[in-house]
Amino acid sequence: MIIKTAILGYGRSGSTLHADPIEKSADFQLVAVCDIDEQARQKAFQRFGCKLYENHLDMLAGEDLDLVVVVTRSDQHAAMACDCLKAGKNVLVTKPWAADYAQAGAMMKQARSSGKMLLPWLPARWGCDLLRLKALLASGIIGRVFQVRRSEYAFGLRNDWQIWKKYAGGYLLNWGPHLVDQPIQLLEASIKTVYGEMRQINNPGDVEDVFYAVMKTTDDILIVSEYNIAAGATPNWMIQGDRGTIYVHQDQITIHQAAFAPPDRDGYRSPVQMETTCETVSGNRYGDQFAIYQHIARALQGLEPYQVTPASAAGLTRILDAVRTSSEQGKVIHLS
Ligand SMILES: NC(=O)c1ccc[n+]([C@@H]2O[C@H](COP(=O)([O-])OP(=O)(O)OC[C@H]3O[C@@H](n4cnc5c(N)ncnc54)[C@H](O)[C@@H]3O)[C@@H](O)[C@H]2O)c1
Repeated sequence: MIIKTAILGYGRSGSTLHADPIEKSADFQLVAVCDIDEQARQKAFQRFGCKLYENHLDMLAGEDLDLVVVVTRSDQHAAMACDCLKAGKNVLVTKPWAADYAQAGAMMKQARSSGKMLLPWLPARWGCDLLRLKALLASGIIGRVFQVRRSEYAFGLRNDWQIWKKYAGGYLLNWGPHLVDQPIQLLEASIKTVYGEMRQINNPGDVEDVFYAVMKTTDDILIVSEYNIAAGATPNWMIQGDRGTIYVHQDQITIHQAAFAPPDRDGYRSPVQMETTCETVSGNRYGDQFAIYQHIARALQGLEPYQVTPASAAGLTRILDAVRTSSEQGKVIHLS
C-alpha cells in the first residue's frame, strides 16, 4: 500500500527532515503540502508537483490522505493534530508534539475517538550514540550506573519564532524532547522527582535558552539534562557507574574502566587500575530519518507497532512541564 501523505508546514524541518525520506521511499507519495507561506508552497510544488493549500482544514476536507505530517510552529501542533484525527487521518507530529500535558491528553483523546493513529516524532530515540550506549551498559562494562549527564551546547543566537513564549518557543520544548528523553530511554527508567532551572542568557525574546533538568529515577539514579547556549565544549554524555565512566564528545566515546585489587598490606584502601578505551560511533546522533520513515511505513501498514507510543510521549511532556513548574516555583516536583 502506498501511503498518501501531506506535509503541514513546509519550513526548515518539513522540507528536509520529513520531505527527504518521503521523497526517497517507495512506500510514500507526497500528494499535498499546506503552508501559509507562498514561497514555501512554490518550493514544494517545484519539487513534488503536489497539490497546494494555504489552510489545513481545506486540505483535510479536500484530500484522501493516509498520513498528515505536522511540522508547523510548536504552539500549533496539538490543535492541528486534533483537526487531522477528527478528519479521519493518521497523523505524525513533530517534537514537541504538545506545549503541555493538557494538549497531549487532548490529542490522545481525539485519537481514541477517531480510531486513527497518533504518531509522536521523537527521532533521538534512534540516535546512534544512544543505541551504542545502551549496548555498552547492557554489557556491564562500567558496573552499576548511578548518574547520567546529557548536554548540548553552543554559542548560539536565534531570532525566529523559537524565542517567543506565545509560539511555544524556548529551549526546553525545543531540546528537551531530545535531551531529557534520551537518558530516560537509556536507563528505561521512570522519573520520580524533577528539579528544573531555566535561564535566558543570549537570545532576544522572552523564553529560556539554557535549561537544567535534574531528575531522580525510581531506582534512585540521578539524571542531569542540560541545554547551554553559552558554552564552547562540554561532553554530550557522561555516564558514571561504580566500575567506570563513559564520556561522549560528538561521535567519540571514551570508556574508563576501574579494576579494584584486594586491599593494600596496610589494608586502608584497594589499589585501582584504570583502563581507557576509545571508539567512534557512526550514524546520526538524532536518528536516521530515512530508517525511521521505513518504520513509520511498516507501522501504518499494520506490520509492526510504532515504537514511540503516545503514552510514552505524554510521560515525557509531563516531565517537561515539571521542569518548567520547578523552575518557576523553585521547588522539587514529585511525580508519582
Ligand atoms: N529533530 C527534529 O525533530 C526537529 C528539528 C527541527 C525542527 N523541529 C520541529 O519542527 C517544527 C518546525 O520547525 P522549523 O524550524 O521547521 O520552523 P519553520 O518556521 O522553518 O517552519 C514552520 C512552517 O510552518 C508554516 N506555518 C505556520 N503557520 C502555518 C499554518 N497556520 N498553516 C500552515 N503552515 C503554517 C510556516 O510558514 C513555516 O513554513 C518545530 O516545532 C520544531 O521543534 C524538529
